[in-house]
Amino acid sequence: MDLSALAPTPLVLLHTVLGQNGWSVTYTSTHICALKKSTVDIGCSYSYPSTRHNMNTAVQKRLWFIKNKDEPLDLKTYAPYSRRAEYRFHENDCTLRITDLRERDSAEYKFRFVTNQSDGSYTGSPGVTLTVRRLLSHTELQCHSSCDVIDPPSYVWYKNGQKIEEETSLRVSVGGDDSSYSCAVKGHEGYRSAAVYAPKPVNVSVTPSGEIVEGNSVTLTCSSDANPAAKYTWYKGNNNKPQSVDTQLVFTSIQRSESGQYRCRAYNSVGATSDTISIHVKYPPKFVSVSVSPSNEISEGSSVTLTCSSDAEPRANHFWYKDGDQTPLINERQLSITSIQSFDSGEYVCAAENHLGRTTSESIFIVVICKFLYA
Ligand SMILES: *[C@@H]1O[C@H](CO)[C@@H](O)[C@H](O)[C@H]1NC(C)=O
Ligand SMILES: *[C@@H]1O[C@H](CO)[C@@H](O)[C@H](O)[C@H]1NC(C)=O
Repeated sequence: MDLSALAPTPLVLLHTVLGQNGWSVTYTSTHICALKKSTVDIGCSYSYPSTRHNMNTAVQKRLWFIKNKDEPLDLKTYAPYSRRAEYRFHENDCTLRITDLRERDSAEYKFRFVTNQSDGSYTGSPGVTLTVRRLLSHTELQCHSSCDVIDPPSYVWYKNGQKIEEETSLRVSVGGDDSSYSCAVKGHEGYRSAAVYAPKPVNVSVTPSGEIVEGNSVTLTCSSDANPAAKYTWYKGNNNKPQSVDTQLVFTSIQRSESGQYRCRAYNSVGATSDTISIHVKYPPKFVSVSVSPSNEISEGSSVTLTCSSDAEPRANHFWYKDGDQTPLINERQLSITSIQSFDSGEYVCAAENHLGRTTSESIFIVVICKFLYA
């Protein structure tokens, strides 16, 4: 794309949406093209008859909208815009400013105002069409022949095999274009250069395949067909610091903190592409601990809850044991005793288990205080 198309639209023509009897909204342009992340001002002014049937007119409401279902939805109350839309209203100026533009902001924007006259509301329609574009960088491809057949040589360019231009170099948009380009010396079109093209969609793989267990060695591999050959960068999550600048990202002993999403970016001088992969590191139960509630003295007849906690991936199953008995009392995280008796006194232990292992808590001793009843 020609970058000049992205330059700010000159404010030459005023586009007035004329209503009857002096009601109007004027936009400074009907189409605006702006760059992603930039700020745009959609220029606007409006007018209305100051009196009607001998009654003065007062403006009660002014708003911009893009959606109009039952009623126009005020951009200031519409979540995607609430922080980025700014009404620069001043007298008859109704300019809308949108900051930090996103491609999704491409839409038709309309201004509306409401007065206290009966039927005294007016919408400037058609509105202003905003197009938000990404900034494309360009790369120049050059054609070279190893022997100078003609001086100066003249070249022929091919895009996806079709002849396009007779130039010595060619401008190509980087990103979003999966075309391939090749060239030939004019007059010798039978001898074409190898095609150059941006990386094809990347193939991201994990070895070994299957479950990823903490402490194991894991390798993420990224590959993409490209000419010139692609270079690679691995990132974790939204972190811009590269984890690896190689086709592989190697974890010699993977830790659970390394779970997350990894993105591989493949690029060459023509373009770039990327893909992500999620890693879930599994581990046996750790930090198995028990707590008793209530934590103060336990007297006969009261109720008591023992709770077991652990850290495991996948989540652990819990078992409670008493006095060294091999048979669990219960297969639950919590052991509740509603009316505790003296024979419930003893040593309790919790075990947490997943398919990777089993860990036992320290013992907890429960002593039930007897109540002596005197007749
Ligand atoms: C609108 O409001 C103005 C100012 O409050 C008032 O003077 C005028 O009479 C009102 N007009 C109507 C049609 O109610
Ligand atoms: C992706 O890479 C894996 C491992 O190298 C390979 O088995 C698979 O065929 C590749 N898939 C594609 C679509 O290239």
